[in-house]
Amino acid sequence: MSERTQVAIIGAGPAGLLLGQLLHRHGIDAVILEARSRDYVEARIRAGLLEQGTIETLREAGVGERMDAEGIVHGGIYLCFDHALHHIPMRELTNGRTMMIYGQTEVVKDLVAARLEAGLPLLFECEDVALDGLEHDEPLVRYRHEGAEHELRCEIVGGCDGFHGICRPTIPADALSVWGREYPYGWLGILADVAPSTDELIYAYSDRGFALHSMRSHTRSRLYVQVDPDDDIANWSDDRIWSELHQRLASDGWELREGEVLDKGITPMRSFVAAPMRYRSLMLAGDAAHIVPPTGAKGLNLAVADVTVLADALVAHFASGSDTGLDEYSDRCLTRVWRAEHFSWFMTTMLHLDPQDDAFGRELQRSQLRYVTRSTAASTSLAENYVGLPLEQTAPPAVTR
Ligand code: APR
Ligand code: PHB
Repeated sequence: MSERTQVAIIGAGPAGLLLGQLLHRHGIDAVILEARSRDYVEARIRAGLLEQGTIETLREAGVGERMDAEGIVHGGIYLCFDHALHHIPMRELTNGRTMMIYGQTEVVKDLVAARLEAGLPLLFECEDVALDGLEHDEPLVRYRHEGAEHELRCEIVGGCDGFHGICRPTIPADALSVWGREYPYGWLGILADVAPSTDELIYAYSDRGFALHSMRSHTRSRLYVQVDPDDDIANWSDDRIWSELHQRLASDGWELREGEVLDKGITPMRSFVAAPMRYRSLMLAGDAAHIVPPTGAKGLNLAVADVTVLADALVAHFASGSDTGLDEYSDRCLTRVWRAEHFSWFMTTMLHLDPQDDAFGRELQRSQLRYVTRSTAASTSLAENYVGLPLEQTAPPAVTR
């Protein structure tokens, strides 16, 4: 079967779904092809912290209603070390900017619902998705759906298929530079049926390794402990997880409440950047182009920032034939991406125990933690990165003479 659209979007994660929604609001046709089932995509538990810029984008895209009703606004975080909680008042340090707790899973559900309600094409369980014709600027996406072979012609491909997708590997190796780092630890995450034991997120540094107390709602807690990335989840009974959380999050005058564990899993941690984020008519966005370790809560927010820039560029391309936005897309995104890469690496290495590190390294981490909680200059720097720098501050530098 042969079909045509303006933009073929590969992947129905937050990047692909939001790109489809933004294009729809500007009257641009798109087809979204997703390898997994709707149930799988809507059940996948990922991070859950939205920057103010992300919140505003989701509102403007017309999918902010449930987020505004159910999301929990946070104006700060705690860093826990030396058995005490140290508050970083982000709202005060950043002229009133805040973050919101609202799970990525919920963002995805809202975007899927908006697309299906509008009757727009979103195909789940697509098999053998492959790109062709990029060299001749006549992109063709082949895929199989419900047993039938399809060919989808388009002008632009949105490569939103995540780190393990097919879009980035389609780009010839000599047209792409990559940078990356794998960390000698992973996160074991649990979702627990218990009210959060804290009003704001707690990032804990301890002699037993990192721990994070986050939340999904007023009745559900999300907690993480640093583990070996090759560890098997079968080695971690619920009791063992709670015992580690109690020890790592321990601080004077504070108690951790336990609850039924509803979900648990281990994820490795890596940093990765591929550049440029464009190859001819294929535009990469989100995890397909870059990965950050989750300590800075930047992954989803970067994906949203990418597709916001990309949607503007595509609107200019289809409305007026101007390709300046598409030409500048990669540079505009990458300046912000590298800032988030640095911040995520900084938070990660400040808070985790590296098994190769020595006592000197641990004292450096403690010194840095004291500094970012006691110095207004250092805590402001942490805060403005955490809540998300405004787009203009992460734009490529102006030419200076
Ligand atoms: N064909 C079609 N879809 C595919 C293919 C393929 N060959 N390969 C992967 N996909 C789909 C995945 O099943 C997934 O639904 O692409 C989607 C990519 O979504 P995400 O991995 O969520 O990536 P992205 O939309 O860029 O969102 C970034 O997600 O991974 C987190 O931490 C990350 O929060 C960040 C956010
Ligand atoms: C989460 O709630 O899943 C979460 C929050 C903050 C992070 C990472 C993950 O830095």
